[in-house]
Amino acid sequence: MKKLLRGGFVVTPRGSRRADVLLDGEKIAQVGHISPAEAKSAEVTDVSGCYLFPGFIDAHTHFDLDVCNTTTADDFASGTRSAIRGGTTTIIDFACPNKGETLAYGLDLWHKKADGKCSCDYGFHMTIDDWNEGIEAELDDMFAAGITSFKMYMTYPAMMLPDGDLYRALKALKARGGICGVHCENSGVIDALVAEKKAKGENAVSCHPQTRPDYLEAEAVGRILRIAQAAEAPVVIVHTTNAAALSEIDQARARGQVVYSETCPQYLALDDSVYYQEDWLSSAKFVCSPPIRKKSDQDALWAGLKEGRVNTVSTDHCSFTTQQKLAGQGDFTTIPGGLPGVETRGEVVYTTGVAAGRIDLPTLCRALSENPAKLYGLYPRKGCIAPGADADIVVYDPAADHTLHAADMVSRCDYTPFEGFRTSGSIAAVYLRGMPAVENGVVRDVMGEYLKRGKCAL
Ligand code: URP
Ligand code: ZN
Ligand code: ZN
Repeated sequence: MKKLLRGGFVVTPRGSRRADVLLDGEKIAQVGHISPAEAKSAEVTDVSGCYLFPGFIDAHTHFDLDVCNTTTADDFASGTRSAIRGGTTTIIDFACPNKGETLAYGLDLWHKKADGKCSCDYGFHMTIDDWNEGIEAELDDMFAAGITSFKMYMTYPAMMLPDGDLYRALKALKARGGICGVHCENSGVIDALVAEKKAKGENAVSCHPQTRPDYLEAEAVGRILRIAQAAEAPVVIVHTTNAAALSEIDQARARGQVVYSETCPQYLALDDSVYYQEDWLSSAKFVCSPPIRKKSDQDALWAGLKEGRVNTVSTDHCSFTTQQKLAGQGDFTTIPGGLPGVETRGEVVYTTGVAAGRIDLPTLCRALSENPAKLYGLYPRKGCIAPGADADIVVYDPAADHTLHAADMVSRCDYTPFEGFRTSGSIAAVYLRGMPAVENGVVRDVMGEYLKRGKCAL
């Protein structure tokens, strides 16, 4: 039976308007005035007073990832349930072969982790942490498998590539129409700063942000953008955290380069005071790389988002329980790095962005839905409410304020960085390809599909 969502405001990147939405099976059939005859044959749900967003896309998650001698708290089952609870109908996770393993092995491993377990649709980026003829020869197979985006690291010894290999890989990806996200931090200087802290016997959680300052992120952003200039290749700067890094992106664009920028809710809504709490564990919960920055950096990121210089807001969901964070007590460099966020992104960014007057609804729609869909080859199947698109819809009730508590969440992580945060409004319902996936806060059993993605269209 068809479904009719009646009385809502459909949000698009060009504005929001009062419109009914007719779903036919997995697809959106009609948007606007639905004739009484059509309405008669449909199951009608009253969504008056609510905003209807295209299903949110989180293009940066790490589920079931072995890292720091442990495994993330959320696997694909709990992570995607958590995602859909938060309005995310598509995630793109990072398949991550170890150095020495083939891309095919990494892809197969990620399918084994995810297939048959997901509550939302999913795709994979491929991590390139080795560069040689064998890896290059595998790229065409990756594109054939629907992997059109990749990630490289300028830090983390187990994953980083030297500048020459970054250049060669960007060139090879450009030749095939692929794009690459890059984790930008200056590894060598960070290691030296860490060694100095250790030599002085300093081990507070605050050593983490102090040894990974904003300017060492900005240096790496500037460097990869010059490498990309040489390769004549586009780049996605993932998890952009600060004003100096954003300024490097602005400069590269002014030179004519194609650069995309992603940030995350923790960089928009939190500041580095989280690392200076009295209790060690309270601070350790916020350890992620790059670290959370200053209020002035938040302002720069919000301005960037508003002006379209920051293109997407993903989460970098990489969750560890408080018990797992405790493993780093004797050495700040061994605190597992990463935060949960996939369940809270929509409400946190709506609240701190739209309700606070920093951005408007179309900008939110662009950052959470349309831009990631275009950037990662999913548009117009995903990322818009239009006839023919997948019926992925978030029903957002702007009047249903509530308080976020980890205890109420479906993620396996036992804390949220937004504990006690008062939201403006809430996600009332979520549809995944026409299936009611969340109703009254309860996640229904729906099965996500693997998405073979096309090329970047942003
Ligand atoms: O600390 C973080 N962000 N961990 C996740 C991996 C990454 O660098 O994106
Ligand atoms: Zn990263
Ligand atoms: Zn990440």
